Amino acid sequence: MRSDQAKGAALVLAGLTGLTGAAWAIRHRQKKGKSYEDLDSVVSFSARLVAGMRAYESREADPLFRDPLAEVLAGKQGMEGAKMTMKELDASEGNDENEHGETAHDSTSASKKEPLQRGYMVGRVALRTVFFDTKLLDAVTSGPPAAIKQVVLLGAGMDTRAWRLPLPEGVSWFEVDRSDVLKAKKKALKQAGAAFSEQENNRGAKYPLKAASYITCSVDLENQNWVDGLIARGFDPEVPTCWILEGLVMYLSPVAVEKLLKGMHAVSATGSRLLIMAFCGTDIKEWYTRTATSQSVGWVADLVATFKSSFPKDADVYLAEKGWQLKTSMGYKDMAEAYARGMPWNTDLSNGSNTLVAEDDYTSYIEAYALMR
Ligand SMILES: C[S@@+](CC[C@H](N)C(=O)[O-])C[C@H]1O[C@@H](n2cnc3c(N)ncnc32)[C@H](O)[C@@H]1O
Repeated sequence: MRSDQAKGAALVLAGLTGLTGAAWAIRHRQKKGKSYEDLDSVVSFSARLVAGMRAYESREADPLFRDPLAEVLAGKQGMEGAKMTMKELDASEGNDENEHGETAHDSTSASKKEPLQRGYMVGRVALRTVFFDTKLLDAVTSGPPAAIKQVVLLGAGMDTRAWRLPLPEGVSWFEVDRSDVLKAKKKALKQAGAAFSEQENNRGAKYPLKAASYITCSVDLENQNWVDGLIARGFDPEVPTCWILEGLVMYLSPVAVEKLLKGMHAVSATGSRLLIMAFCGTDIKEWYTRTATSQSVGWVADLVATFKSSFPKDADVYLAEKGWQLKTSMGYKDMAEAYARGMPWNTDLSNGSNTLVAEDDYTSYIEAYALMR
């Protein structure tokens, strides 16, 4: 593979969910057979890997955020995948696992070695987490015109903001994802002692719900009508909404993404906002075909083969056609400056990954406002 092709392929993979290293690292398991425990597919499993990365960020000495539920939601397999993304850094830093399979990030071995800096993939997930945290808190506290009281996460995965963020009173919370993901999430949260209602809060739950209500909606966003189900469960189109699409749209076809953007707008009262992660200006089909065929590993090929779409470079025009006015668009460098006083991972890594990440100017974190209906 030519070096620019290799770089492109790596960029695409790295941009997806921050999973690249995990994908490569657990290739041996995938050769034996594709198993994602109680989840149906590699796309569902991506939710656990991202949770694992949030768990590793939470273990940092000076983390950008803390997500105490992330580890239980990642589960053994998700933690294993995320840990392997740290291993690249471990190896380059001369901090290999000890004979017990522990790295310096393991709490049990933390006292034996200096804590390592986070790997670049965990750093990327950390930055994106802070972007969505910051913009969401702004939406639910400042408006305009009044503070938003309704939040919907599409492709919610193992997100824990309903328990983690200091939400103001009265925020209705909706999460939409596939049924296997939502079922596994609820089971893990219950076991961890998370509350799903005010009554459970009052009974002294270990992790109180910070939202006023928590409603889930199992749906395949590619093929099913999600709006009716949401409304049937209490979503109010007359109440301004903050929509969150984090690490989702690349898994949907261009037609489904367009329908989704227009569908959200159709039920967005004045003042609603959209927070979305998107690849802008890349032909994902070309990238993934090239990448998938360049990898001998089923897991990577499987993951990459699920990518179906990207935004055009001029995301503002594209969004405006679907009812959304772009307000902010940030890349990793912007977020690193705004939220982390610089890139939060070791930029001296010799494996080239950081250069790729530094040059990643196609992954965009976008805040948009609903145009008048
Ligand atoms: C990489 S995860 C991101 C999860 C979460 N937003 C986060 O950032 O941690 C992608 C999520 O999108 C969901 N997803 C992908 N395609 C979907 C579809 N067609 N319908 C519903 N959910 C989907 C997956 O199940 C998964 O939970």
